[in-house]
Amino acid sequence: MQNIILLTGAGKGIGKAIALEFAARARSNPSFNPVLVLCSRTITDIENIANECEALGTKAVAIEADIANLDDIDRLVTNTLEKFGTVDCLINNAGVGRFKSFTELSEEDFDYTMSVNMKGTFFLTQKVFPVMESRRSGHIFFITSIAAETAFKSSSIYSMSKFGQKGLVEALRLYGRECNVKITNVMPGAVYTPMWGNAGEEFRNVMMMPEDIAGPVVNAYLQPPRTSVEEIVMRPVGGDINS
Ligand SMILES: NC(=O)c1ccc[n+]([C@@H]2O[C@H](COP(=O)([O-])OP(=O)(O)OC[C@H]3O[C@@H](n4cnc5c(N)ncnc54)[C@H](OP(=O)(O)O)[C@@H]3O)[C@@H](O)[C@H]2O)c1
Repeated sequence: MQNIILLTGAGKGIGKAIALEFAARARSNPSFNPVLVLCSRTITDIENIANECEALGTKAVAIEADIANLDDIDRLVTNTLEKFGTVDCLINNAGVGRFKSFTELSEEDFDYTMSVNMKGTFFLTQKVFPVMESRRSGHIFFITSIAAETAFKSSSIYSMSKFGQKGLVEALRLYGRECNVKITNVMPGAVYTPMWGNAGEEFRNVMMMPEDIAGPVVNAYLQPPRTSVEEIVMRPVGGDINS
């Protein structure tokens, strides 16, 4: 049986690693048949990842979409349903951060961060959840962050958006439990990805790698139907790297 997996932010970093981990896991487990719908704003990124997944034997399609745009969300979900008939798993991974001190952050920083992390995540989930609710089956992941419950000085807007995502996760879980839909909050600490820009380079040795997050996400998805992994918390072994 196919598992239709819709993954946002699949072109780089953690999302890319999750896509490749699904494909690698399917290769070693013939009874697991994921179909990956990969989304980001940069079509070349997701086409390349789709090709890598296909080379490993997993069907993958790339759909360019900006989750901050409700028309794009509509097109993303409608195209997925037209092509594959359902969504078994939604991975809300796409997210952005603007990291500056509190007084330096602008209205544009605020609107940009909230439009992706809060508005995009909310409305995409709102579009997909009823599909799962009506089938009484499905799994929704939110890649939030340690910053969803721990504050860092350079992350005031980012933390607001991630605390907000955690609020959505906890509200949605109340709905999910009523209709057999699993809700998983993934809270990583620092991971070496393009999100950090050049700043990541100096911390690389004390960060996790994207594949460290991807493995536990796929493990959580592959649990028996009776079991829901509700939270995954992962930190670099030396703890958080900034304050
Ligand atoms: N890296 C960390 O230390 C860390 C730690 C904890 C949690 N996280 C969270 O993990 C998630 C992934 O982070 P990452 O570090 O892998 O980031 P990343 O390397 O910057 O990758 C983010 C991905 O999301 C896509 N994206 C961004 N905005 C989008 C939008 N509006 N619509 C569709 N796709 C969009 C990006 O592609 P385009 O720009 O081409 O659209 C890219 O493919 C984020 O939610 C982040 O907050 C990261």
